Amino acid sequence: MLAGKRILLIIGGGIAAYKVLELIRRLRDAGAAVTPVMTRAAAEFVTPLSVAALAGEKVRTELFDLGDEAEMGHIQLSRVADLIVVAPATADLMAKMAQGRADDLASTLLLATDTRVLIAPAMNLRMWEHPATGRNRAQLAADGVATVGPNAGAMACGEFGPGRMAEPEEILGAITAALGAGPLAGRHVLVTSGPTHEPIDPVRYIANRSSGAQGTAIAAALRDLGASVTFVTGPASVPPPGGVTVVRVETAREMAAAVQAALPADAAVFAAAVADWRVANAADRKMKKDGKGTAPALEFAENPDILATVARMDAGRPRLVIGFAAETDDVLAHATAKRARKGCDWIVANDVSPGTGIMGGQENAVTLVTAEGAEDWPRLPKAEVAARLAARIADALA
Ligand code: C5P
Repeated sequence: MLAGKRILLIIGGGIAAYKVLELIRRLRDAGAAVTPVMTRAAAEFVTPLSVAALAGEKVRTELFDLGDEAEMGHIQLSRVADLIVVAPATADLMAKMAQGRADDLASTLLLATDTRVLIAPAMNLRMWEHPATGRNRAQLAADGVATVGPNAGAMACGEFGPGRMAEPEEILGAITAALGAGPLAGRHVLVTSGPTHEPIDPVRYIANRSSGAQGTAIAAALRDLGASVTFVTGPASVPPPGGVTVVRVETAREMAAAVQAALPADAAVFAAAVADWRVANAADRKMKKDGKGTAPALEFAENPDILATVARMDAGRPRLVIGFAAETDDVLAHATAKRARKGCDWIVANDVSPGTGIMGGQENAVTLVTAEGAEDWPRLPKAEVAARLAARIADALA
C-alpha cells in the first residue's frame, strides 16, 4: 500500500521508542522505505543496531558526521522523503520544533524540510498537560504538523492518563492517510459506535452493554485504508481510535444531530447500539423517594432511527449505508427483514445471545446481508471482521 514511498523516521528519546521497532517492520511490510534518524537520547532506549536491521538502512545520529555529509547532506536528507514521521515525539523535540531550534541532526532536519511532518507524541501526562506543551502543540498545529495520539492509559512511569504513544498500527494508518495512499484515500466515512445513555434524571440513565469494540475496530480499519473517518461515539468502554475525528455524544438524539452535522459522507457504518426509547418524563432534578414506597412511573418516547433516516435521505445520501443487526434468534431472517425495513444497503448481522460471548467480547461471527444475498463469515477477532468489512467498503466505493 505504501510501495515507492520513503519515510524519514526521527526517533526521539522516550520509553515508547521500543514501539517504533514494530512500526518500522509494519512500514516495510507495507512496501515503504524507511530512513532512520535517532536522537542521542533515543539510543538510550533502543539500539541503533536493531533500528538499522529492521529498516535495512544505516541509522543517522550526528549532525556533523563527515562520512554521512559526503554521502547525503542533512539538507538533502530532509527533502528526499515523502513524509517525515517523529515517533516518539518527546516534549523536548516538540518544544524544539515549535521554537525552530536546530541544535542536533533531528531538529535541524525538521527545520530544513519542506516535507509534511507527522508526530506521535509520547510523554508523562503532566508534561502533556503542561501549558508549555499546550502552547507548543497549538504552534505545531498552526505550522501544519499532523499529530497522531497520544492515547490515554497506563504509563511506564506508573501514572495513568493521556501521554501514551499511539500504537504502531494507528501511526501506520495516520501515515497512510497523510500520504493520501490506500484505496479509501480521499473518501469520508462516518462510523457510529458505542451505547447511548438516556437520562432518567441528572444522575441516572438507561444504557446497554455495548462496549464500542466493533465500531472502534471498524473506524481504525477504515482509517488504515486511507479514509478520513468521523467517529460519532456514545459513552463506550473502549477508547476511540487515533487518527480519526472523534465526536462524543451521550443520547440518541445527540447522536442523530452529530451524524447529520458530519454529512456528507461516501459511506456510513451504523455500529452504535442506539437506545430505542428515551425517558419522556426525565426529571431535571434528582428524583427522591417520597417515603411512602411509591415508585416513579417512567414514560418512554421512541428515539429517532438514525440509520433509517440516513438510508432514506433523498438528497445527500451516502452511496453505501451499512447497518448492524444484533439478534438472539433467527439471525438471517431478522437481518434480511431489517435491511428492507431500514432501507440500507448492507446489514452486518450477529448473534448476541448470551452463550456466544460476542457482546463485549473480543470476537464476532457475522453474516453480511447485501442485495446479492447472505454470506456467513467465520468467527474472527473483531479487528479482523473490521478489516474485512473495510476492504469490502473500499471495493464497493472503487
Ligand atoms: O432496529 P435495530 O436497533 O435492531 O437496528 C440496528 C441498527 O440500526 C444498527 O445499525 C443501529 O446502529 C441502527 N440504529 C440507529 N438508530 C436507532 C436504532 C438503531 O441508527 N434509533
